[in-house]
Amino acid sequence: MRAQVGIVRAGPAGLMLSHLLHLAGISSIIVEDRSRAYCEARVRAGLMEHWVAQMLIATGVGERLKREAMVHDGIHIAFGGEARPIDFNRLIGKHVYIYDQKEVVTDLIARRLADGGEIFFDAEGTSVHDFDGASPKIRFRHQGHAQEIECDFIGGCDGFHGICRPSIPAGVLNGYDRIYPFGWLGILSESPPPDKELIYCFHERGFALFSMRAPMVSRLYLQCAPDEDAEKWSDAQIWDELETRLGGVRPLKRGTILQKGVTPMRSHVIEPMQHGRLFLAGDAAHIVPPTGAKGMNLAMADVRVLSRALEAHYKSGREDFLTGYSGTCLSRVWKGQRFSWWMTQMLHRHSSEMDFDTKRQIAEIDYVTGSEAAMTSLAENYAGLPMD
Ligand code: PHB
Repeated sequence: MRAQVGIVRAGPAGLMLSHLLHLAGISSIIVEDRSRAYCEARVRAGLMEHWVAQMLIATGVGERLKREAMVHDGIHIAFGGEARPIDFNRLIGKHVYIYDQKEVVTDLIARRLADGGEIFFDAEGTSVHDFDGASPKIRFRHQGHAQEIECDFIGGCDGFHGICRPSIPAGVLNGYDRIYPFGWLGILSESPPPDKELIYCFHERGFALFSMRAPMVSRLYLQCAPDEDAEKWSDAQIWDELETRLGGVRPLKRGTILQKGVTPMRSHVIEPMQHGRLFLAGDAAHIVPPTGAKGMNLAMADVRVLSRALEAHYKSGREDFLTGYSGTCLSRVWKGQRFSWWMTQMLHRHSSEMDFDTKRQIAEIDYVTGSEAAMTSLAENYAGLPMD
């Protein structure tokens, strides 16, 4: 098989890359090791920056998003028995959207297939080859047959545990890492969220976040140990802990818990994000702790930069955008890393003592929720820094 661009995995990054390339008249084939049903069902973080929603709408994949996404004007930060609003709409005239990553994936798969796009689901043993030469290849097995895609470029959109990054020769990449000494116990429940907006809670027993997926579906998180066993928590214990950490700022309605799991918290960046004709995008190149809600947004930014660079290559023979891919992406990635780290350190409990750092954190939250300048800074980072 041949395509101009071979793409590894059908997550938001790989699918959006394929969609943007298609709109630019560039062919691509996606290889995905999971089933279509798995890709469309896995609940992931769901917060979308303003420009990402606009890009989905502008490129014709935003119809359901326009109907179903929950539009948010800001967030609340709760501490000391009070929920303080940060109103993005008033401060910077922007919104954010709650629309689960799996919905983005579902919409993009439908659109790629309707446009005649090729996606190989349930691929086995995917590997990438010859990307330091002019004719890279993706090999895999599909329904018992060995397959090979010959392409000009490979989009490595295969996440943190993917095969693309480790295929790059040793010594080429530099990794930067921060592992946090806690995780998030996350649940999906059939219950109304306590507020129209998300509530980030700083509490002496640890951080909690009250998010949502629909008017009657909540997505709720509790700071826990990084190796916490979710099954050790009974539903009643989870609700009691959520209620305690919400600190009485809103009444909390309980409901059936549909799913629970633990997310580890980590910041990681590799540099550069390209080697030869292999370009890494999204979690394959960088991951962030979820506190800043940046994961899917950084992935979408990477593939927009990459699709434009490939378009410049094919349409006007310009190579500078492709050579500059890594540098362009990394300047945004590091700002996303900084913001995610900052939100994480500010809102989590690092010690059980009321020590110097805890006092400093409380002062920081008080400042961030009280000063126009500080609120504006949080708002512009959270709703998404400008793309151009
Ligand atoms: C979510 O709704 O899953 C969510 C929202 C905001 C975050 C993290 C997760 O910061």
